[in-house]
Amino acid sequence: MRSSTLVILIAVLVWSSSFDSCHAIRWHPWYWRPWYWRPWWMLPSMRHHHGGFGRLNHTAPPPQLSPSQPPPLLLPPSLPLPPHNDHLPPPLLPPPPKKSHAPPPLPPPSSKPPPPPANPGHETRKFPTFNVLNFGARGDGKTDDTMAFHSTWTAACQMEASTVLVPEGHEFLVGTISFEGRHCRKNIIFQLDGTIIAPMNRENWGRDLSNWIVFKRVTGLTVQGEGTIEGSGSGWWHVSGSDDLEDIEDVGKQHVDLSDKDEDEDYGDEDNRTEQREGRETVVTAKVLRGVKPTALRIYRSNNATLAGIKIQNSPNVHVKIMNCNGVKVHDLSVSSPGDSPNTDGIQVHRSRDVVIHSSNLACGDDCIAIQKGCHNLTVYNVTCGPGHGISIGSLGPDHSKACVSNIMVRDIDMHDTTNGARIKTWQGGMGSVQGVTFSDIRMSRVRYPIIIDQYYCDKGKDCGNQTSAVAVSGITYENIRGTYTDMSILFACSDSVPCTDITLNGVDLQPVQQNGHGHHHHHIHEPLCWQVFGEWTPTKAAQINCSLQAGKPSGYNRVLLNLNLC
Ligand SMILES: *[C@@H]1O[C@H](CO)[C@@H](O)[C@H](O)[C@H]1NC(C)=O
Ligand SMILES: *[C@@H]1O[C@H](CO)[C@@H](O)[C@H](O)[C@H]1NC(C)=O
Ligand SMILES: *[C@@H]1O[C@H](CO)[C@@H](O)[C@H](O)[C@H]1NC(C)=O
Ligand SMILES: *[C@@H]1O[C@H](CO)[C@@H](O)[C@H](O)[C@H]1NC(C)=O
Ligand SMILES: *[C@@H]1O[C@H](CO)[C@@H](O)[C@H](O)[C@H]1NC(C)=O
Ligand SMILES: *[C@@H]1O[C@H](CO)[C@@H](O)[C@H](O)[C@H]1NC(C)=O
Ligand SMILES: *[C@@H]1O[C@H](CO)[C@@H](O)[C@H](O)[C@H]1NC(C)=O
Repeated sequence: MRSSTLVILIAVLVWSSSFDSCHAIRWHPWYWRPWYWRPWWMLPSMRHHHGGFGRLNHTAPPPQLSPSQPPPLLLPPSLPLPPHNDHLPPPLLPPPPKKSHAPPPLPPPSSKPPPPPANPGHETRKFPTFNVLNFGARGDGKTDDTMAFHSTWTAACQMEASTVLVPEGHEFLVGTISFEGRHCRKNIIFQLDGTIIAPMNRENWGRDLSNWIVFKRVTGLTVQGEGTIEGSGSGWWHVSGSDDLEDIEDVGKQHVDLSDKDEDEDYGDEDNRTEQREGRETVVTAKVLRGVKPTALRIYRSNNATLAGIKIQNSPNVHVKIMNCNGVKVHDLSVSSPGDSPNTDGIQVHRSRDVVIHSSNLACGDDCIAIQKGCHNLTVYNVTCGPGHGISIGSLGPDHSKACVSNIMVRDIDMHDTTNGARIKTWQGGMGSVQGVTFSDIRMSRVRYPIIIDQYYCDKGKDCGNQTSAVAVSGITYENIRGTYTDMSILFACSDSVPCTDITLNGVDLQPVQQNGHGHHHHHIHEPLCWQVFGEWTPTKAAQINCSLQAGKPSGYNRVLLNLNLC
């Protein structure tokens, strides 16, 4: 037993040393741009607000959007597994029954050492369970269990539908870890019932600071359980590598939403950028930038993934990042970090299709959900957001890039004490389009800007006044959006050259918060703004919204069509 553990350990060391070393978050120019052109109506004025509540129906989801299918471990025992055709020695559990017809193709035979015994407590299951405690994890919250987690994964991943168990009642200190699935079988379950905690300080973090926990190229992955991922982020939020860096971040925070990260395939880029900032040239090396703050949980290139039940809190940066995945279900997830923790988006989705996020509670310091470029067919429902920056599509089209987002449904949402509600934001100078978006049945309480379309982001201050291209925004529906706001109910700042088209508002009833009796919260309520927005508004009697949508087609409609056709 001892010697076999040693063999596994060595195998894991060799295996893990072959990992891609570059997982860096790409350095984005606009991230640090200090100068950010905004129209006068967008001048910042940060303050907290308190007030009344809106009312909203929470309708049940239609049947086609019902919660995810049960994970494989819940399959009835009669359901046969596909046969194993490799030379793996059998685990202690009886091998799955062989089935003679239609075997799905399996990965090539593995030369890895045999898996250690499965957890005896789970022997009754059809599929083997690999408990991290059996692979040397201590679970005392102090000992570094990273290697044990690696070993467990390596063993489990050789068997289809096996389970990696992180048992309850334990705290596992785990550093940067990548669960690579390229050579794994399908449908692995990561059962998180205990707590995984991140190292407190940067020194223990290792070389790559851009990620903490990564699942990569795992088909049919399920991450579920009642456990917690504790990002130990407080040490990262207000401290950074240098004062200068922090300073830039602050500037960026104020003017540019830092959730606007867009990464390339392997999210690595060594480019340095030169910034002109307040007359001072600052060269920030990619290494420093890359090192800024880790994303807690990244699911990358993993199709048919499910993330359910767990709690993720206090991430140093984004809590959950879903990138290049098709068919993802997220539900009963809880994200929790303070409203003033910088850049702590709840869930970011990039370049993914057929994603459903529902029945989750998201409280964080940035966007609750950020839908980035390349997202198609994404549904969000029954989600609570607040504190946070609302649910955002974008930012899209920085650096004259093309972005396409389509078929997005956001419904049955409760937003409270968020800076934004339903937001679409694009940079000037971009290309492509956002089309087919519905925000419906959203209850807003004390939201600063409940409804926003902003096509005036810009990464080059000096050119902002005269860029004509823009990511087109078309086919956006707002339905049954009710509640209270603290600054401006509706802000449609659309491009002069590529106006917003086919915008529909129906049942939008937003009221300014009532001042409380103590009078120490003075909200600066502004008139709504509808600039270059075409479409139809079915007004509600109760709504006191002084804003009008233009009928017909804008003169620059061919530019809109051009961008729609680019996607
Ligand atoms: C709430 O739902 C009921 C029944 O589904 C409906 O009659 C009512 O109009 C809804 N109210 C709002 C504010 O949408
Ligand atoms: C980035 O800057 C660092 C430090 O100045 C330098 O060593 C490196 O060669 C630069 N990389 C590129 C791609 O310019
Ligand atoms: C995802 O699951 C669906 C239904 O279970 C299946 O048809 C599809 O092939 C799966 N996709 C992948 C990439 O495994
Ligand atoms: C959209 O995604 C859902 C959920 O994954 C899927 O069931 C549906 O078929 C997709 N629709 C289209 C048009 O691809
Ligand atoms: C909505 O989400 C909550 C958890 O946040 C869950 O308890 C509830 O059952 C969900 N409701 C529906 C209709 O899905
Ligand atoms: C943009 O406008 C500014 C002044 O409004 C002008 O100085 C500049 O040359 C223009 N840039 C381009 C690319 O047209
Ligand atoms: C609506 O806007 C117009 C023009 O800005 C203004 O004159 C008017 O007072 C506004 N009405 C209300 C009810 O705020």
